[in-house]
Amino acid sequence: MPIRAIVFDAYGTLFDVYSIGALAERLFPGKGAALAELWRDKQIEYTRLRTMCSTYKPFWEVTQDALVFSCRKLKLDLTLDAQNQLMGQYAKLPAFPENLPVLQELKSMGMKLAILSNGNPDMLDAAVQAAGMNEVFNHILSVDAVRKFKTAPEAYQLGPDILGLAAKDILFVSSNCWDVCGAGWFGYKTFWVNRAGAPLEELGVTPHGQGTTLTDLRAFVEQDRNELQSQARPA
Ligand code: LAC
Repeated sequence: MPIRAIVFDAYGTLFDVYSIGALAERLFPGKGAALAELWRDKQIEYTRLRTMCSTYKPFWEVTQDALVFSCRKLKLDLTLDAQNQLMGQYAKLPAFPENLPVLQELKSMGMKLAILSNGNPDMLDAAVQAAGMNEVFNHILSVDAVRKFKTAPEAYQLGPDILGLAAKDILFVSSNCWDVCGAGWFGYKTFWVNRAGAPLEELGVTPHGQGTTLTDLRAFVEQDRNELQSQARPA
């Protein structure tokens, strides 16, 4: 079966979370990169702990908790003003520059497009709106609906449910290798946007495709389509 729909992770894949580092550097000179990295790692760690122990709370709050902890750990004085600035930046993260044109092309190829993110609905709506992406997505799915973060199967199930397709006919796209592995275990076809040149996680999952930007994703989808068309032609 050809790929019939594409489901995207949001943070790190469509929206540049590490852009936070520039603001963090202005607030805490010499510590911006360390804060941005620890903040992201803690945020994801907290989503996993909360899912494992059934203590869900929205991603916005988890993100704030992770910021407070990270500053404490790095011995940075997080004033209320600094916290508001950093969280405010999170609410309007820039999209990667190639994303919108690639999404528009994928849509014009007839693909159904969705976001499936740990982000709570308000966060996602704000980011999608700020990036001018409202028109391209058929669905914006938040794990808030099941109160479990990825990589819980219930979270990944939101995609097939709303699209009315089997997971194997949907391409799941993420820049987070752990998310690609979770989606692959669940049964999606997967594409890893390895923006950071990271090594593959040692989890026994090989993505169906990979590249460094969404432009590489477009090439992968076109190739999938061409291969199917040539198979369909009589020899
Ligand atoms: C998301 C995070 C995990 O958007 O990137 O779900």
